[in-house]
Amino acid sequence: MTTTFSHLACIACGRRYETDDIRYRCDCGDLLEVRHDLEALAHAYPDLKARFESRLGKFEKPYCSGVWRYHELILPDLPVAAIVSKPEGNTNLYHSERLSRAFNTRNLYLKHEGENPTLSFKDRGMTAGVSWARHLGMTRVACASTGDTSAAMAAYAAEVDGMRGIVFLPHEKISPEQLAQAISYGALTLAIETDFDGCMRLVAEVCARRPIYLLNSMNSFRIEGQKAIGLETLQQLGWRVPDWFVIPVGNAGNISALGKGLLEARALGLIDRLPRLAGIQARAADPFYRGFLTGFKQRPVVEAAPTYASAIRIGDPVSRDKAARAVLAFDGVVEEVEEAELMEAKGMADRAGVSVCPNSGVALAGLRKLRAQGTIGDAETVVVILTAHGAKFSRLGVDYHLGALADAQPSAPNPPVRVRPLLDQVLAALDKEG
Ligand code: F0G
Repeated sequence: MTTTFSHLACIACGRRYETDDIRYRCDCGDLLEVRHDLEALAHAYPDLKARFESRLGKFEKPYCSGVWRYHELILPDLPVAAIVSKPEGNTNLYHSERLSRAFNTRNLYLKHEGENPTLSFKDRGMTAGVSWARHLGMTRVACASTGDTSAAMAAYAAEVDGMRGIVFLPHEKISPEQLAQAISYGALTLAIETDFDGCMRLVAEVCARRPIYLLNSMNSFRIEGQKAIGLETLQQLGWRVPDWFVIPVGNAGNISALGKGLLEARALGLIDRLPRLAGIQARAADPFYRGFLTGFKQRPVVEAAPTYASAIRIGDPVSRDKAARAVLAFDGVVEEVEEAELMEAKGMADRAGVSVCPNSGVALAGLRKLRAQGTIGDAETVVVILTAHGAKFSRLGVDYHLGALADAQPSAPNPPVRVRPLLDQVLAALDKEG
């Protein structure tokens, strides 16, 4: 394979590997990342911004995709013919008075990654990961998942003739909608009596013993696709840089990708300054927050307790070192929120007409906390990354309004009103409302 622009490099010792080397860690044990020769890219494509603008509104694959619109910055050596795209991206950046008022933040934007084809941001990484797998000739792909990576991987593998998706799920720790996605897209679905961290260890072992391509975010090519969330947000803002990105953190791949993409965008002159980053965790699973409190000198591992934010119930985040680097480089902060706070914040976004998952509720609750502390100022421009759609967690949304969640009572409950099928009873129910 001729690779012109990119190679793999260890984030700790800097050792280089070719991009067709199938490996997820350096020989020294640390994580790898894809490094692009940005000077060569700038030389080959001096008009990057104009290229990205010219692809807006296109209907043809692959440039209609909100990932492949930025092809030159994602995987510049990947031939267009290898791309597996649904397409993905092009998600809404919500901005309304209603939302600003609800979250007491004048210049608030919500980037709704739940509007991707499998209803989470994972499609952006997976179009890159599965395309790279196809490019390498891999026919089996696998991941451990709290439910969203698995849905995306299954859906993208399903598009490729002869490709088999294999998912490792913590038994009964994901939502029924997420489970339905993996099995109905045809993935071999292993429901394992452990937690996400247990699944992660197993899938890494399995991929070391069989010719199966690992598509967790320790696969550096997936991170490249996920960078497009930040790039697309910047483009939607007319390349104006917000003051803050607020993002939920689980395995810590997404915040790493956001940071990497923003640094590259600045190096290439697409933007002229950097925003700050705020990573938010649920208290029940907060190893990254605990590490932040030590200035990332320690790398705490916790046993993640149950949380409504089940997709970020992770005690030993694989990409923590990349994420820590990003937080430090962006003068960032890490916060944690309680169960009641994350459900309240989810309820507030839902009530403003934007359906979000509880994991996104974590980010929104983090925003409220950082605004209350004054860490985020009143006039600052804030982008919150909403990572999945509320429809993936519908039982939770109903139970919340029924008042059935012991530790998260709604401040504005709106349970269904049961009426018998009689006109006077229906009218009585309406009149009672006034
Ligand atoms: N939000 C949602 C909806 C997620 O599914 C995840 C991760 C995150 C946030 C956290 O992102 O791991 O990059 O820090 N879900 C993974 C999965 C672990 O398997 O679906 P992260």
